[in-house]
Amino acid sequence: MVKVNLSGCNSFIKKAEFDEYVSKALKAYDVLDSESGAGNDFLGWKALPDGTPESLLQEFEAVRDDWRSRGVNLVVVIGIGGSYLGARCALEALNHQFILPEGRPRIVFAGNNLSEEYLAEMMDLAARSNVACIVISKSGTTTEPAVAFRIVKEHIEARYGKEEASARIVAVTDAVKGALKTLATQEGYRSFIVPDNVGGRFSVLTPVGLLPICVAGYDIRAMLRGAADAKAAVSVRSADNPAVQYAAMRNLLYSGLGKKVEILVTFNPRLTYLAEWWKQLFGESEGKECKGIYPASATFTTDLHSLGQFIQDGDRCLFETTLKVEKSGRSVVIGSDPQNLDQLNYLAGQHVEHCNAMAALGTKLAHIDGGVPQLEVSIEAVNERTLGEVFYFFEAACGISAYLLGVNPFNQPGVEAYKKNMFALLRKPGYEAATEEILKKI
Ligand code: PA5
Repeated sequence: MVKVNLSGCNSFIKKAEFDEYVSKALKAYDVLDSESGAGNDFLGWKALPDGTPESLLQEFEAVRDDWRSRGVNLVVVIGIGGSYLGARCALEALNHQFILPEGRPRIVFAGNNLSEEYLAEMMDLAARSNVACIVISKSGTTTEPAVAFRIVKEHIEARYGKEEASARIVAVTDAVKGALKTLATQEGYRSFIVPDNVGGRFSVLTPVGLLPICVAGYDIRAMLRGAADAKAAVSVRSADNPAVQYAAMRNLLYSGLGKKVEILVTFNPRLTYLAEWWKQLFGESEGKECKGIYPASATFTTDLHSLGQFIQDGDRCLFETTLKVEKSGRSVVIGSDPQNLDQLNYLAGQHVEHCNAMAALGTKLAHIDGGVPQLEVSIEAVNERTLGEVFYFFEAACGISAYLLGVNPFNQPGVEAYKKNMFALLRKPGYEAATEEILKKI
């Protein structure tokens, strides 16, 4: 189960201050628990771990098995923001980091940027693969995935014909509205619904995340079980509730000590994308009304050789939360060398992970000395179950933390601003006035 260790903050705060923030966090917990706060029509994520029907999981497996029988070896997952980060984070965490999966399709992501080179090179791969596509957009109108989908759809139809294409494309979108829903109905694609009451960044345990994870060959039931365990652990009105503790400490550091940036640190590169998912979760939930902790991330020890100087010695606006993995999934022991020219024999017989753990401890102590409070969130290992735990843990902690901060965790008014300008510049019909306005500015 997810554990939170706040001892690395002890030298920065007084116990009484923390207790005060725990009381505030418990009030925020009550708001989330009683579903009485702002955005309470977006709490559908709370029911997902134990409320997802078995029949839905079987439908995902039917897609997986159907594509296997068609020899599909490449699945393009199209989506952006909350419609791709959860699946990407899970697959980066679970996949072998170097060897392509045997007997499982390779999953690539598109529609999460507007780079022509990215799309062209992804299509180079599609052209030499047996390809299928999952297109995910809750609104069904987002430009980036719509552009990518138009190109992938054209390719699949030209290669396999319209009828076969409709078996190779699956849509995940709103139950009734949006262009993608209309298209899916018209073309006869299999479709899955993004529930109305689940926002993008809380959607990893809906078809948005579970379908790609299932198609990639992973155990989505274990993921849901892990999420259910975490739900049980964080659904307790107690000062010891790990989500309450995490929310209380980060708000104390922010409001009490002026620590405006939280760096989510991992010492395991397979969790780099978990930090990307976490950044969206906390950034979009809390960054509003001129408030919020800026969510940043770093992968150590890699980034100690680039960001380490700043973290140790730069502006003291930072605190760190280390996502610790207690047990390595693999074993690599450092050998002894009779010449010892690299002078590493003092490590002979040690596991590489022991060096990693000592690097982590050394970094923690150095950063405390440098004035950077240290929080720790740990999981036992990296697998489907612990990912489910971590997803639900952070979602609940985020809801509590944002209510404590005094903002609505579940809206994202700020993400529309760039779209208006982009549409005006692209001369989208209906944006004529905005085009005139923006042309005066440039
Ligand atoms: O959290 C959010 O709402 C956003 O990040 C969306 O997930 C993202 O913009 C994609 O939206 P959609 O799924 O409607 O295409």
